[in-house]
Amino acid sequence: MFATMGALGLAPTAQAAQREQPFRALSGSDFTLTGRGAAKVVVLGGGIAGLTTAYELGKAGYDCTVLEARDRTGGRNFTVRGGDTTTDLHGNRQTARFADGHYMNCGPARIPQWMVTLDYCRELGVPIEVFTNVNADAYIYNESTGMTKPERYRTAKADVYGYVSELLAKATDKGALDKELTATDQEKLVEFLKGWGDLGDKMTYQGGDFRGYSTVPAAAGTPGVLLGDVPSASEVFASGVGRYFSFEFGFDQAMLMFQPVGGMDQIPKALTRAIGAHRIRTGAAVSNITDKGSGVSVTYSQGGRTRVIEADYCVGALPPNILAKIPHNLGTGVQTALEAITPSSAAKIGLEYKSRWWELDHRIYGGITETDQDVTHIWHPSYGFHGERGVLIGYYNYDDDADSYAKLTPKGREERAVAVGVKIYGEKYRSELASSFSHHWRQTPHLEAAWHDTPGGPDDARYKPLNDPTGRVYFAGDWLSYTDAWQHGAFSSARKAVTALHARVLSS
Ligand code: PHE
Repeated sequence: MFATMGALGLAPTAQAAQREQPFRALSGSDFTLTGRGAAKVVVLGGGIAGLTTAYELGKAGYDCTVLEARDRTGGRNFTVRGGDTTTDLHGNRQTARFADGHYMNCGPARIPQWMVTLDYCRELGVPIEVFTNVNADAYIYNESTGMTKPERYRTAKADVYGYVSELLAKATDKGALDKELTATDQEKLVEFLKGWGDLGDKMTYQGGDFRGYSTVPAAAGTPGVLLGDVPSASEVFASGVGRYFSFEFGFDQAMLMFQPVGGMDQIPKALTRAIGAHRIRTGAAVSNITDKGSGVSVTYSQGGRTRVIEADYCVGALPPNILAKIPHNLGTGVQTALEAITPSSAAKIGLEYKSRWWELDHRIYGGITETDQDVTHIWHPSYGFHGERGVLIGYYNYDDDADSYAKLTPKGREERAVAVGVKIYGEKYRSELASSFSHHWRQTPHLEAAWHDTPGGPDDARYKPLNDPTGRVYFAGDWLSYTDAWQHGAFSSARKAVTALHARVLSS
């Protein structure tokens, strides 16, 4: 009978547990004829998880209040434009000087097509455009392996794929794969390798136009000049350029990727409008959470005043490292779970330039240069092509690299990042610079993390008091998802909390 009920969707089945639960948006009519009404909910945190909680509950008429400690919503979804000011935990105060229309996304900046983030962009009317995550003309620069100048992605790929293909073709030819593949399959493999590695009839890699040109082909009389100096297989593998190629195969990083037009914060801005600004209290830092059995009482400070809000339910959508510092009566299970999840560092610096020299001189339109330097990634902007100015991300780094830049003054960060960039792109990286703005998440008040490490994964037994409600308190955030460090995690975690809370209200 249980199996039959499962087939009818009336009981859980193993398959159902594996499938993503389809989300059913709430509606006011859910309460029609039930004799019950929507409850009052206090949401802690106005980041993506908190805003989504209030937005989705609002569809069924819940009376939500969002408490946000910063002066703006969005949490780690943070876009900086000219005039924006921040002060980090070291006391460094910065005001961005970017020209009108220019911005940097300090937090999330790219959205894969499969993530629910795009559904929210569609639903909320946030226009999107392509974010260039991989560019054949961007550079790779590995100084530690002896590279003295950058190499284009396309050149590096041609060489690595070329030699891998040649070696595999040779191995096949020598019978090394006879046990693995039939003669016909080996023929097919060799045929593939010939194309993938651009091998000639001799089945050897000798360069070719996959690598690129020093003079590009044009009108009659200009057949083009291929890039010279094809390195040996040994040089290619020693250079370590191949280490970056698997990135674009990642389920969450494969092109096409997208970004909202005009900055990632168009998402929290749209959510904030949809919820209603009157439901959101900014500058409101939570100082106590008390589950009273019949309701929840939350204490917070706002404008130097201590205030208390009473609600039927509470959704804690703050980062776990912040929640762990707030006194509560939810028990040691909650506290132990929160403390097990540790914060990670990441940082970015926006370098605003007077000209788009990377487009003009290097012909790089968007995409990422990968380095073994402490700046790690350098991002070319995916908007404003052919405009006058542009903002490059001069570092997007993590962990120790992010922390060591954090210790410098904003000017010191700029100087160190520019010195690295000059090695890769030349003097214009310094001479064309107009302004800079750096952002370090571990040093950001009220957040103190870029993302989190959740040992054992979000379904580990120790996080049960966070995944299930504890009394009348629910939790939500990317840190309770399998896509930590993505807005998708925050959206889907909020949906899960909203679904559970609503089911409880309907049945209570
Ligand atoms: N989502 C962030 C990014 O795209 C952080 C992240 C990086 C998450 C790599 C997972 C993998 O950069």
